[in-house]
Amino acid sequence: MTNEAQWQHITAQLPLWLAKSRSEAQHGRPASYIPELAHAPADALGAVILSADGRKLEAGDSSYVFTLQSISKVFTLLLALMDQGEERVFRKVGMEPTGDDFNSMLKLELVEPGIPFNPLINAGAITVTSLIAGQTPTERTSRVLAFFRELTGDPALTYNETVYASEKATAHRNRSLAYFLKDNDVLDADVEETLDVYFKHCSIEADCSHLARLALVLALNGKDPHTGRELVPRRYVQIAKSFMITCGMYNASGEFAIQVGLPAKSGVAGGILALVPGRYGIGVVGPALNDKGNSVAGVHLLRTMSEAMDWSIF
Ligand code: DON
Repeated sequence: MTNEAQWQHITAQLPLWLAKSRSEAQHGRPASYIPELAHAPADALGAVILSADGRKLEAGDSSYVFTLQSISKVFTLLLALMDQGEERVFRKVGMEPTGDDFNSMLKLELVEPGIPFNPLINAGAITVTSLIAGQTPTERTSRVLAFFRELTGDPALTYNETVYASEKATAHRNRSLAYFLKDNDVLDADVEETLDVYFKHCSIEADCSHLARLALVLALNGKDPHTGRELVPRRYVQIAKSFMITCGMYNASGEFAIQVGLPAKSGVAGGILALVPGRYGIGVVGPALNDKGNSVAGVHLLRTMSEAMDWSIF
């Protein structure tokens, strides 16, 4: 199929694929361990696809606004790499999937040295947040927001105060992970200050268009889709995409690689960012999650699209 024929096909099929996937939401539930996320509409499903040649397609609840949650971790990793370089970041965090839940404490004590296995599990992401340059938590948060605004091209992008406060008040598990990391000298920075920046970047509000735009920047190896300017060095995007394949869908990343075959990252608010290298940035949201913390309908939709369009990179 030519690019044009592909686009015509996706345009015709997307509403049908989406309608089919929406009913899958009944097999999941919105996250509730962050109390504010429990109010999300369980059967919402939206998608946006942006093409490298500037076209946009949207379907379903594509303007539904949600918080990035773990999707933000891909970009805080990029920022930490840009601030500190590869060598310093990977002194503090590993490169391997865990096979455990995203908030697990298990392997921190089980293996030596006790650094988090990768930057996308909570322990790894909290560590990465501590590596972002800035004198104060406020300055670090501002730099994270500025980075997201630059990548999305949306100067109004900000975090949701209510979700932030809700997570901060209930984050007993993340707090225990962070104190454990501090005790092991993995976390050099102040625990509460680091967590504050972490909760804020997890609470950044976005819709599917923002996700698709972020994904397209990665699909273009760090280049701005409009100007072609380098926003992130290609090497760091390569690292981020590798983690998305091996750990982006947590301990369902192997299954996702087999069934969908695209670099992707999920968040507990139901968002999934996925990309077709060099061609498409995709943003999907469906708040009902499976027991691994991934959007049930969102994964179903990505699988349907990837199979139909033969998008797997493998
Ligand atoms: O730290 C947490 O638990 C949340 N702020 C983010 C977790 C998350 O999104 C895991 N995703 N599937």
